[in-house]
Amino acid sequence: MEFKTIIEPFRIRQVQPIRSKTRDERITALTNAGNNVFLLKAKDVLIDLLTDSGTGAMSNEQWAGMMRSDESYAGADSYYRFERAVKDITGFKHIIPTHQGRAAERILFGATVEKGEVVPNNTHFDTTRANIESRGGAAIDIPTPESADTQSIAPFKGNMDIDELKSILDQWSDKVPMVMMTITNNSNGGQPVSLQNIRDASTVCKERGVPFFIDACRFAENSWFIKTREEGNEHRTPIDIAREIFSLADGATMSAKKDGMANMGGFLAMNDDGLAEKCRSMLILTEGFPTYGGLAGYDLESIAIGLYEALCEDYLAYRIRTVAYVGERLTNVGIPILQPPGGHAIYIDAKAWLSHIPQKQYPGWALTNFLYQEGGIRTSEIGSVMFGQQSDGSEKLADKELVRLAFPRRVYTQSHIDYVVEVLHYINSIKDSISGVRITQQPTTLRHFTAQFETVE
Ligand code: F0G
Repeated sequence: MEFKTIIEPFRIRQVQPIRSKTRDERITALTNAGNNVFLLKAKDVLIDLLTDSGTGAMSNEQWAGMMRSDESYAGADSYYRFERAVKDITGFKHIIPTHQGRAAERILFGATVEKGEVVPNNTHFDTTRANIESRGGAAIDIPTPESADTQSIAPFKGNMDIDELKSILDQWSDKVPMVMMTITNNSNGGQPVSLQNIRDASTVCKERGVPFFIDACRFAENSWFIKTREEGNEHRTPIDIAREIFSLADGATMSAKKDGMANMGGFLAMNDDGLAEKCRSMLILTEGFPTYGGLAGYDLESIAIGLYEALCEDYLAYRIRTVAYVGERLTNVGIPILQPPGGHAIYIDAKAWLSHIPQKQYPGWALTNFLYQEGGIRTSEIGSVMFGQQSDGSEKLADKELVRLAFPRRVYTQSHIDYVVEVLHYINSIKDSISGVRITQQPTTLRHFTAQFETVE
């Protein structure tokens, strides 16, 4: 008999208490935080879905590896174990540790992007975009047109538009220092990219002589989607698929805080000797010596082990099913989400759901506050507060007002997930009572982290 219940593929041997505050206590905490959930104290949060980055639980093997770590400044054993794991999975020649993903981006673009150049990506993550723009380059998103309809169901809505890629390379043949592919496509709903799409992008880049890099933060989740959705891959292991993905590229940036299953860390990997030398020199300036790159030896150990754990089939089946389950339960009662559910998160379409709140009163932001107030759940707005502020001080409302529920890895159980669903079902029954918000105070950039808000009565 094959039973159909997908279980958490681990036993819990250490616990960290979480305690529910009363609704009144939460209202006070939110007021003290200027109605901005980023400014809450984590101890006042019951279920924290702000991000899946660095918030996962490590395994007993990872902790054991950390105890074995070698903290030598140069040439530590921990570095060589880390390097061996990353090389085994990615096949790249040069493996450069960094303290997190954005440090890898800064070094890579610092070594390659010049003013006026253009970097296409299926969709840039914010830090990727910011690091290209800070070099005077232009970060261009070329997602598949299929992804524009948030309600359509398609297997690989994270894909890159290959025709658009060709047209950019035709137009700016000598102005594209590299092409990037983000797997899964976080800024476009955590949607996966197909192996065929990665092959096509790789072929175009090879023909034109342009380096092709992978933003690999969620490479294991993406490999699972390829295994379960793309014909011909159903009998392959996730690690086999991951190896093929990396073999199609010239290098990768990685935040090990996602599919590295670590609380901190990242890396930059590549085949080109000259570029690696340049990157290592830059690494020494700001991150550290090339065998630790801003990380403790124990971080390197946790990543070396975590990368393999992220590729385990029972783990991936449980992880992707959790997200799909939340998606189904919300869809069943008519809560609009970006379809289909992605790998690490559910994105609620707050503009559609709270259609009574004018967009300039930030329906996504209002929903993050309400979710905390009613259920102690912390989420993040991905909408006009995050993207609306222009460099000249004006405001441009975003296309979408989304609220992301990002799931930390191996942290919450099925009943935590059922609780989240129950809170959302309750909110669905009283959603018309949610009011919009206005900004009372904001910094000049990246306002979502520190701005203060009040409710519009
Ligand atoms: N690329 C992608 C696709 C990401 O999702 C992130 C981080 C980064 C790069 C940067 O990595 O945080 O280690 O510097 N995403 C987190 C999130 C912050 O919540 O989605 P980092």
